[in-house]
Amino acid sequence: SILVRSSSSAKQSLLRRNFSSESVPQRKVAILGAAGGIGQPLSLLMKLNPLVSSLSLFDIANTPGVAADVGHINTRSEVAGYMGDEELAKALKGADLVIIPAGVPRKPGMTRDDLFNINAGIVKNLCIAIAEHCPHALINMISNPVNSTVPIAAEIFKKAGVYDEKKLFGVTTLDVVRAKTFYAGKANVPVAEVNVPVIGGHAGITILPLFSQATPQANLSDDVLTALTKRTQDGGTEVVEAKAGKGSATLSMAYAGALFADACLKGLNGVPDVVECSYVQSTITELPFFASKVRLGKNGTEEVLDLGPLSDFEKQGLEAVKPELKSSIEKGVKFMHSGA
Ligand code: NAD
Ligand code: LMR
Repeated sequence: SILVRSSSSAKQSLLRRNFSSESVPQRKVAILGAAGGIGQPLSLLMKLNPLVSSLSLFDIANTPGVAADVGHINTRSEVAGYMGDEELAKALKGADLVIIPAGVPRKPGMTRDDLFNINAGIVKNLCIAIAEHCPHALINMISNPVNSTVPIAAEIFKKAGVYDEKKLFGVTTLDVVRAKTFYAGKANVPVAEVNVPVIGGHAGITILPLFSQATPQANLSDDVLTALTKRTQDGGTEVVEAKAGKGSATLSMAYAGALFADACLKGLNGVPDVVECSYVQSTITELPFFASKVRLGKNGTEEVLDLGPLSDFEKQGLEAVKPELKSSIEKGVKFMHSGA
């Protein structure tokens, strides 16, 4: 009826007013490694995000082209490209959120830890600059091995006297994205409705999906749950092998990175009940860093949520996570204290 239509159109114009660009805060997002396999599609997706007002694209090469290209898209944010160490300060100044996909990816036969020697140094230098130029920004660490690069970042920020554990996040969203996709396939439920927490870390057996908590619930056999867990843990390797030497996940990672960044921006903007899994400083287990559900707010992490009930299979998985994650954390901390 006409009445219903007019009241719903009134509601829509109210919604439009609430979400008009004047009421959305200015937010600068910097992407470090923006010209890479992840960086380019992630730059595109962040350009499509209406919460971003300024998009700063930094890399050691090729950012002028990426910035010119992305900058022609008629969405809210202003885009600027920065190239080389001498432009890093400008790229970072005033950033609310810094996303870091800088560093080398795996080739078949490598573990994420095999990237440590190169990527630890890259992450270290970028974090030193962040501590100086935007010490209050939220950090989304994508560079591998995440289990070690996050502790490295924490040590750098501590050394610079700017560490705020609420603002440092290892991005594990791709594990959640994969767990949802694989679960929906086996459980035969609409993927858009699926939720699966993934805890632990971001490498092999340290990735622990909690399918016992997956929704919508499904009665899957132990064999299927074991296979789903293994596929989630090996998801990165599945892509590395399929790409056969041409790198690791970039497109699905850009999607996952954009989702997590959007959640961080929503939290900063005061949207309530924004919960995502992330690898953060934690007291949920005896490990100093651990991925679990995190409530995001105006200062970053508002609350690290409990793991909830685990099945016996998941309890065993959790015990297997601990020694490997502990040694990856210690490796990161040791790197920073070895004067490297
Ligand atoms: P890539 O080689 O395609 O791109 C990396 C980019 O980083 C390049 O453009 C390179 O120029 C840039 N770079 C190198 N040193 C830099 C520095 N000092 N400052 C700024 N930029 C620098 O690699 P990719 O496929 O985009 O992967 C990047 C990283 O992300 C890898 O370490 C990979 O393992 C990791 N990764 C993580 C996840 C995750 O779930 N957290 C998923 C996929 C990939
Ligand atoms: C992933 O999970 O896809 C990334 O960590 C990249 C990799 O090396 O597997």
